[in-house]
Amino acid sequence: MTPRLRPGYTFRMTTTTSGTPTPPAESPGIVSSLNETRLFPPSAAFTTAANVSDPGVYERAAADPQAFWAEWAGKLDWISPWRTVCEWTPPHAKWFVGGKLNISANCLDRHITSARRNKAAIIFEGEPGDSRVLTYQDLWREVNQFAGALKGLGIRKGDRVTIYLPMIPEAAIAMLACARIGAIHTVVFGGFSGDSLRERINDSGSRLLITADGGWRRGNVVPLKQAADEALANNSCPTIENVVVVNRAGDPRHVPMTEDRDHWWHRLLEHAPRLTAPEVMDAEDPLYILYTSGSTGKPKGILHTSGGYLTQALATTQWTFDLKDEDVYWCTADVGWVTGHSYVVYGPLAAGATVLMYEGAPDWPQRDRFWQIIEKYGVSVFYTAPTAIRAFMKWGTEHLEKHDLSSLRLLGSVGEPINPEAWMWYHRHVGGENCPIVDTWWQTETGSHMITPLPGIVATKPGSATRPFPGIAADVVDEAGESVPPGGGGFLVLRKPWPGMLRTIWQDDDRYQKTYWSKFGDKNLYFAGDGARRDENGYFWLLGRVDDVMLVAGHNISTMEVESALVDHPSVAEAAVIGRTHEIKGQAVAAFVTVKEGIRQTSELAGELKDHVAKKLGVICRPDDILFSAELPKTRSGKIMRRLLRDIAEGRALGDTTTLADPSVVAGLKEKYESSEG
Ligand code: WT7
Repeated sequence: MTPRLRPGYTFRMTTTTSGTPTPPAESPGIVSSLNETRLFPPSAAFTTAANVSDPGVYERAAADPQAFWAEWAGKLDWISPWRTVCEWTPPHAKWFVGGKLNISANCLDRHITSARRNKAAIIFEGEPGDSRVLTYQDLWREVNQFAGALKGLGIRKGDRVTIYLPMIPEAAIAMLACARIGAIHTVVFGGFSGDSLRERINDSGSRLLITADGGWRRGNVVPLKQAADEALANNSCPTIENVVVVNRAGDPRHVPMTEDRDHWWHRLLEHAPRLTAPEVMDAEDPLYILYTSGSTGKPKGILHTSGGYLTQALATTQWTFDLKDEDVYWCTADVGWVTGHSYVVYGPLAAGATVLMYEGAPDWPQRDRFWQIIEKYGVSVFYTAPTAIRAFMKWGTEHLEKHDLSSLRLLGSVGEPINPEAWMWYHRHVGGENCPIVDTWWQTETGSHMITPLPGIVATKPGSATRPFPGIAADVVDEAGESVPPGGGGFLVLRKPWPGMLRTIWQDDDRYQKTYWSKFGDKNLYFAGDGARRDENGYFWLLGRVDDVMLVAGHNISTMEVESALVDHPSVAEAAVIGRTHEIKGQAVAAFVTVKEGIRQTSELAGELKDHVAKKLGVICRPDDILFSAELPKTRSGKIMRRLLRDIAEGRALGDTTTLADPSVVAGLKEKYESSEG
């Protein structure tokens, strides 16, 4: 248990007892980013060939954002045109009002009337080394058939369908088939547990679950069907009528199938009609719900709709990634995350791109797997997360040196602030000092990139996401919602609605209003939950979350959710969870646990508690550290002071302890934590 804090460098902000974020000016990371002077302009050759190279786009979009977005929407195929570009009744927005379109038709049908029909849409590489290529025509055919199969199972427009699959082409096919018939998909990450799956199925009220017998991860099969069976056991998901199972990992005869409920994907297709006409969808009809962690325990069902979402996904795919017809584009995110929705499926397919999809782990069978894949397929645009980059750094450059990476021309980063040293390593060793890096800030809620360089225009600085995408009104404000002058830190907000924004939280519009739109009273500012500062050049530097959300390997995990899972264990009386700095994952989950009377504080119990959290929530939520404590530091009003626990876990001097009910508790904990490190 060694808290490793990069010397003089942290992006994390702290939270005070009342839950109000501390102004970012206290973070040492801000000071170091203020001193960042390295500037990386794109090469003249890159700019000349770029999809967008005229810096005037920023001003033009700012002068009339609606006209800017309408121009992008015009690049989609509409069944009937919109009447109004944007209707803004804060905090609710409607985009392309009255317009009708179908998302799957935009991702597929419109590409198969040209030579693009024979182009690879998805190049799939399985972890065991199998591979499969689907042209646009192939993908169109499979989506048509599966959409027909869904209809055959009684799924209709507006019904919810939960997708719990590995990273295999069927995940994209299932999403697009839902979009084709107007069903609302909700993808649950395959790394989540059966319990998490059940919670999401029930919140969304899904009628159908699509899963697989398993997926490959580090040479093992992740037993998805088994987790799904656990989720559904004892009629605990009463809305589910049918389960579709993809045969990916083993002998289908060994998979227990529940009669009349479970159906093999391949069997359904045998009887499905060959053609399923795309449903006519309103621009504001829901496309999907995707769950994300909030600062309370219950995940939020983020609702995205159709026309605006696809417009911004397409615009950002083409401009941020500078995608060209000949590119082989690889976004390493799983479809279980929003990055997989917008930048594996919808954005790139709407753009007619060739998308690489890889099923497994980056270190299987060897630590060079990613570089081997890049060489094998000639990947030219590569989009991954800082947590992966830090792992590659740790593994060493010998793994990259074995491979020819010269096909790469653009690199991207997403999920958390990228440390300048990781940025430089990415630039040097992956990009060969020849590829622009686009550090893209956005969220499940925003649907698409919001702050990112346009690679042909914007000179980058290591660690900065640079400028808002054209048409996006981002700002840094103080507690009162007033803009902070250059150099200062504050809260990241969005001042104007944007096409890809979430429309609400599924069945909880109240929480939508409270979480995102009420922090600054009636100023109608979208509160992103991130701290940020802007430098003299107007570049944004993201400073991490200001709420009780951890970013573990770039994924949002709520401290509350992990605490609830711990307290759910029969031995636990109370738990406080914080994110502490972790070299690879960015943050690791650290838990302070008080056990019940008469329970022994053993390392076996600590292991059991870690497993318990992994089982309840999924392996990514598993705590790295468990520290037992007879008491937790609390204010006189009984609030746990997580800020002090964070100081302890980071090995820092303790901040202000004057509001503590019993200051000796925290001193004792600090001593115990430090001795447990050695
Ligand atoms: C949170 C959103 C967007 C898809 C992946 C995560 C952090 C994301 C960056 C970045 C600094 C970033 C923020 C944000 N974040 N990208 N480039 N620089 N921070 O989606 O799970 O909704 O998490 O991830 O804190 O609020 P998410």
